[in-house]
Amino acid sequence: MTPRPPIVLDSDPGIDDALALQYLLGTGLWDLKAYTSVGGNLPAEQTYLNARALTRALRVDADVPVHRGAGRPLTRLPYTSASAFHGRAGLGNETLPDSTAAHLPESSARVLLRLSREYEGELTVCATGPLTNVAIALLEDPGFARRVRKFVFMGGAAQVPGNITPVAEFNIWADPDAAEVVLSSGIPFTMVDLDASHHFLLGPADLAVLEAAGTGTALAARLLRVYMDAYRRHGGGDACPLHDPLAVGVCADESFITAAEGAVVVEGASELTRGKTVFVPSGAHRVYYADSPTLSARLAVTGRVALGPGTRDFTRDFVATLPRWPGVG
Ligand code: RIB
Ligand code: CA
Repeated sequence: MTPRPPIVLDSDPGIDDALALQYLLGTGLWDLKAYTSVGGNLPAEQTYLNARALTRALRVDADVPVHRGAGRPLTRLPYTSASAFHGRAGLGNETLPDSTAAHLPESSARVLLRLSREYEGELTVCATGPLTNVAIALLEDPGFARRVRKFVFMGGAAQVPGNITPVAEFNIWADPDAAEVVLSSGIPFTMVDLDASHHFLLGPADLAVLEAAGTGTALAARLLRVYMDAYRRHGGGDACPLHDPLAVGVCADESFITAAEGAVVVEGASELTRGKTVFVPSGAHRVYYADSPTLSARLAVTGRVALGPGTRDFTRDFVATLPRWPGVG
């Protein structure tokens, strides 16, 4: 049997982060080497505790370690709370029991670096929160960008409005300096942004399928109800976007999105534009910025950027996949 490729999931659980973990396990496609937490939806200590609790609630193999992320963003401001969408402690109304695993001293960034050496050229890194840990890894060892096979992250807004401000998506806004470190590093990135994730919504009929699927998706269904209510309260209608699970899906199959090659530069100059991801299609800089050598050099650092949905329906795949990895209920 062909060994499953190694992956690390770096997350700020967070409801959709939790769903992304269960979806990853349900695909059966990956050898999860570590679950690394990062601050974002909640402060780093809380997302770390949530990550530990989720490994127990979702029956993650005991040999999959959970690591704690940086206590604050590279950017000067502390992580803000997204409790309005994710619940007081970040997992809806749940109070989940802690994992029985020992607390490990290695930081999330150090684990990313170690695994990139152990699995050089093979490791996929998927990030569903702010890019603080990935940036710290790159600042400590720029060779991380070369050793990683693929880096897929949920974040950004290329050609659509933001969700935390009119121009910025939350993960990038929460640590714009980290995002710019990552996106200028040469790491082989795929940006799974709002341009794509806002096309994959989970609605009441999908929720009913998951609720009927038994106790294994009971936690996911409870979390989704909280998430959907939050979106309803904030004018998002009767459905919630599958932001983070989509990024995991794209790690294995880019047909969920329509992507283009280009540079992404992160604005951080002012509160107005903080976290805006400026997408410049490959080659366009020679037309628009030819008289700016510094900017042209930056714009030559490119990756794959989602500009919309692809040919495969991710919501349908998500609803079908989740029950394949039943949680404890
Ligand atoms: O903008 C969506 C992102 O922000 C998701 O990762 C969600 O979990 C929040 O962190
Ligand atoms: Ca997230």
